[in-house]
Amino acid sequence: MNKIEHAHLKAGDQNLDLPLSTGTENEMGADISKLRSTTGLITFDPGYGNTGSCKSNITFIDGDKGILSYRGYPIEQLAEQSSFLETSWLLLNGELPNQSQLKEFTHQVTTHTMLHENFRGFLNSLPKSGHPMPMTAAMVSAFSAFYPEPESPRVLQETVIRLISKYPTLAAWAYKHSVGQPLIYPRNDLSYSENFLHMMFATPCEDYEVDPVIARVLDQLLILHADHEQNCSTSTVRLVGSSQANLFASISAGLSALWGPLHGGANQKVIEMLDAISEMGYTAQEFVDRAKDKKSQVRLMGFGHRVYKNFDPRAKVLKKACQDVVERLGISNRQLEIAMELEEIALNDEYFIERNLYPNVDFYSGVIYRSIGIPVNMFTVMFAMGRMSGWIAQWMEMRNDPDTRIGRPRQIYTGQTQRDWAPLDQR
Ligand code: SDX
Repeated sequence: MNKIEHAHLKAGDQNLDLPLSTGTENEMGADISKLRSTTGLITFDPGYGNTGSCKSNITFIDGDKGILSYRGYPIEQLAEQSSFLETSWLLLNGELPNQSQLKEFTHQVTTHTMLHENFRGFLNSLPKSGHPMPMTAAMVSAFSAFYPEPESPRVLQETVIRLISKYPTLAAWAYKHSVGQPLIYPRNDLSYSENFLHMMFATPCEDYEVDPVIARVLDQLLILHADHEQNCSTSTVRLVGSSQANLFASISAGLSALWGPLHGGANQKVIEMLDAISEMGYTAQEFVDRAKDKKSQVRLMGFGHRVYKNFDPRAKVLKKACQDVVERLGISNRQLEIAMELEEIALNDEYFIERNLYPNVDFYSGVIYRSIGIPVNMFTVMFAMGRMSGWIAQWMEMRNDPDTRIGRPRQIYTGQTQRDWAPLDQR
């Protein structure tokens, strides 16, 4: 697309110049902040597919080229070379940490993984059959009752550490509660991902030896999920935070938004889809044909994306990680075989090609989680564990942005025009 030098709007007899902003990757936005006061018009953009909510230095996505970078570093390099805690520092601070910074950050996170003992009672008050996403969202919101409001930079930094360090413990405890097993405490001698796996699968009767290769794959999954610019849940975190609600409340809202099956809940839906294909004896082609038929109400979950009109780069890394895990564990994996058949068929099918539908981050992640023993209803919890750092980084950027105003979109009213109330006997 040629570079646009000017943008004007002619509305009736009004001519409005729209100042242009150009990002460091040359994407451009027209500033419409004076539109209503000048012309009385508002823009109408359901789902905000054409609307920029903020300027951000954190994550860049080029959906046409399938590019994703955190603070300028390509996701492929971070997934290959970095660790989740190093990537978290990068997202939060804008630069890769040096040795002493990473050591101190790791120490802070490692030594804040325990939960207040009252959370045991909190969990026991919830039904075992409850989904872990609302459980963890409720417990994160309850953090506001346990810890002080983050008024000062020091307390805010403690809040950041508490969220990153305690969410894996919350997640593992929600799982143990759901299976009726004793809660396992975090250990300071284990890395971030090792600790989570240990809290998930150890029991008082039998310890759990963490496979370092599996722990590394889990760390890569967390890196791949860490941030993704202004997606539904991140926009929720920013919107709630724009009202001056605290970080715990904002993150709790983000957890609820992520749970939706069109968003972070898709990884659970992908596995349920793969199971259904296997159990109902569909061929991959038969299922793809159903996904193309609007009347079927069926979608090829894990395919398509609002921004990517090319491969989601995370899906490529995850597909390779999937194959590594299945090989490491020496298991045959029918879901992986079906997923690869579906991908092969869809990528060569006109319906998907003309709509630019490619595998997204959720298409392969569930196959990995299940292979390492994580139950299906914990998949979105895993997504949230990675996204925690990105949510916090985006919330901090919003709070430090002098242009931030409380989020308050407008509407086009299509309801009844003015009419008078009528007494009951006249209706
Ligand atoms: C995530 O935003 C992010 O960054 C999110 C995320 C992140 O890291 O935060 O990347 C994580 O949420 C990934 C997306 C996970 N969701 C799914 O996998 C659910 C399945 N995919 C979709 O429902 C859909 O593709 C969305 C929700 C992801 C995107 O929806 P859009 O941009 O609103 O697109 P759309 O629904 O308008 O679809 C455009 C067309 C439609 O057909 P037509 O009306 O043009 O004929 O494509 C069709 C849709 O019916 N379509 C699909 C499809 N996805 C879109 N048809 C079959 N299967 C699909 N998966």
